Amino acid sequence: MEEEIKRAREILKNAEGITVLTGAGISAESGIPTFRGEDGLWKRYNPADVDTADGFRRNPQYVWEWYNSLRELISTKEPNPAHYALSKLEKIKPYFSIITQNVDDLHRVSGNKNIIELHGNIFRTRCIECSQEEENREVPLAEIPPRCKKCGGLLRPAVVWFEDYIPLEIIDSCLLSIENSDVMLIIGTSGLVEPAASMGLVAKHTGKTVIEVNLEESTHSQKYDLVLLGKAGEILPRIIPD
Ligand code: OAD
Ligand code: ZN
Repeated sequence: MEEEIKRAREILKNAEGITVLTGAGISAESGIPTFRGEDGLWKRYNPADVDTADGFRRNPQYVWEWYNSLRELISTKEPNPAHYALSKLEKIKPYFSIITQNVDDLHRVSGNKNIIELHGNIFRTRCIECSQEEENREVPLAEIPPRCKKCGGLLRPAVVWFEDYIPLEIIDSCLLSIENSDVMLIIGTSGLVEPAASMGLVAKHTGKTVIEVNLEESTHSQKYDLVLLGKAGEILPRIIPD
């Protein structure tokens, strides 16, 4: 492991452009549960009920109760050393961006600036009638389900649900970011949900060096250049160059 830490540090030190891809695992040490695995959220909730437009149509009250409780939980949590290591890395690199599947906002809280929120943000809402999108930090929500101030329509969380369409310009900015980088660093994602799952492969196919940090091997680990197994909060501070 010492050898791998040294190698990763060297690669990051020499890199001019870095794209980071993060998943729920980077926030696990902040106390936010991941989706899959033993204590995963998808063991207690059915994504078809709480994470699809169809489930929302059937029962917006239930979906909002779940999102309200997640917002309550997340708003009590803070970034961990892995998030802070990434904000340090952004400051010392000419080109740096984070593509995150997380909706918890912790990359912003820890000080990162160039963040692509692939799955949206749990503290934003969108009206299903007039599409108005806005920040909403009311925790807990006074009214469930909340309604649009402009038109009275139902608000939904501005997050990407299963079968939702991710705007093309977001995908485009991810690809551009990978293109502008020589190294991709993938942290705490199972690699089971597209399009994020394929981004490390895109990086590999275009000649980038890919480093992964995860508690265990993930879907595409075998194809990456370097895989560091362990906790993100312990490994990240050790591989960020001074
Ligand atoms: P998952 O729950 O699928 O995977 C979490 C990953 O983090 C696993 O590979 C764990 O091994 C790893 N992990 C856990 N704790 C860690 C730690 N302390 N340090 C390093 N790694 C750790 O979460 P995601 O891959 O983010 O989508 O899931 C992708 C998407 O599926 C989510 O964005 C969400 C979900 O359904 C939507 O809601 C649309
Ligand atoms: Zn509206």
